[in-house]
Amino acid sequence: MSEIKSYIESNKQRFLDELFDILRIPSISADPAYSADVLRTADFVKEKLIVAGADKVEVCPTAGYPIVYGEKIVDPNLPTVLVYGHYDVQPAVPLELWETPPFEPTIRTTPIHPGGAIFARGACDDKGQMYMHVKAFEYMMKNNKLACNIKFMIEGEEEVGSNNLGKFIVANKERLKADVVLISDTSIISNETPSIDTGLRGLSYVEVEVTGPNRDLHSGVYGGAVANPINILAKMIASMHDENNHITIPGFYDDILELSPAERTELNKAPFDVNEYNKDLNIAEVWGEKGYTTLERTGIRPTLDVNGIWGGYTGEGAKTVLPSKAFAKISMRLVPNQNSDKITALFKKHFESIAPASVKVEVRPHHGGEPVVTPTDSPAYLAAAKAMETTFGKQPIPTRGGGSIPIVALFEKELGLKSVLMGFGLDSDALHSPNEHYGVFNYLKGIETIPYFYEYYAQMAKK
Ligand code: BES
Ligand code: MN
Ligand code: MN
Repeated sequence: MSEIKSYIESNKQRFLDELFDILRIPSISADPAYSADVLRTADFVKEKLIVAGADKVEVCPTAGYPIVYGEKIVDPNLPTVLVYGHYDVQPAVPLELWETPPFEPTIRTTPIHPGGAIFARGACDDKGQMYMHVKAFEYMMKNNKLACNIKFMIEGEEEVGSNNLGKFIVANKERLKADVVLISDTSIISNETPSIDTGLRGLSYVEVEVTGPNRDLHSGVYGGAVANPINILAKMIASMHDENNHITIPGFYDDILELSPAERTELNKAPFDVNEYNKDLNIAEVWGEKGYTTLERTGIRPTLDVNGIWGGYTGEGAKTVLPSKAFAKISMRLVPNQNSDKITALFKKHFESIAPASVKVEVRPHHGGEPVVTPTDSPAYLAAAKAMETTFGKQPIPTRGGGSIPIVALFEKELGLKSVLMGFGLDSDALHSPNEHYGVFNYLKGIETIPYFYEYYAQMAKK
């Protein structure tokens, strides 16, 4: 048995216990009611980094939630890896759909995780994946195996757009000097088929408000004569996809960097079974942009989705009302070379232009993020691929992730750093959903794989 494997074997229970401890803290960054818990989680990460052997560990304040920094410089001549992760989590609502409470972690088996999965908000996204790095670091420190310099930067605002982290990296360029960024906050295809995301989508997010009459009206007295803002909003939203499910905003697709036929063929080689996919989601068939496969629709094509829509009466029973206002939160996932500010502006212009004169509309932009592609021929990618090959016994497949991690584009723009997205979650782990979980196998496999990354990267990055 390898040294790391036996270390995991003898410390497995403690690794799980410590992860459970951090999972018990409800660090929901979106809801100010949890701010004390978010801050407590930062202190927890700080303590664990200190115990594992990091130097200069600090909870760095920002205008929002703090960033936990720590480092171990072994030798200035060695390459330096900047580890990024996040300790904040998504809100846990709707609570009634959780089989066990979101902040009381428990292990249960599932068909996909016969070895057990840890059920808790943040188990996979990203506490479980972030904490693998702390434990792998502990192992490397204890056994004198740290082959690179390491800098940890763990933030608490990823789930709300990382606005303050962007400022932090600009203000701390010297401190954050590194050769590459290593991130575990994405998925693999399955536990039998490792993969590495080589791209992430960007995000443009807006809130819209449609106003009809100056007050709620009796829907009998006025109905039929005054525009209903909910009806109008529904129609406007529906018009934003055509019969081929293309997005109808003028100019929306203009900047997209199309993949070559060869690149598309390569992308579609990843194992994907549409029947399994449908079965897992309990849908009769998939949906999407004509001319593209499901892997392409989530990996290399942009989207427009309503995340929430409200207005009028939604309480018990019936109330006959013609509401004054309707609202929706709308997100657009972006692909290289689309720009979030430009897409937001195009959306706003289009939304205003299709609004009938019977209503007023307002578009309020939220946070955005830019899409990224990461190289597959860099020493860091090759080191990650070899590390996964060592521990999974199979070469990982390069894939495109459909989600967004806005800071990754800024690492490149502000620090000149490429990232390696060596994630260990599964898309089916219910991220952002009730019953989020993370395989015990995946957690331990991550801890096992990470030290190999450092070993191989130190060899491959040698100038
Ligand atoms: N870890 C996810 C992103 C992710 C998940 C990428 C799975 C690839 C595969 C991250 O925490 C996340 O949820 N990001 C948000 C963006 C943010 C601005 C709220 C997202 O993608 O919605
Ligand atoms: Mn995440
Ligand atoms: Mn997330």
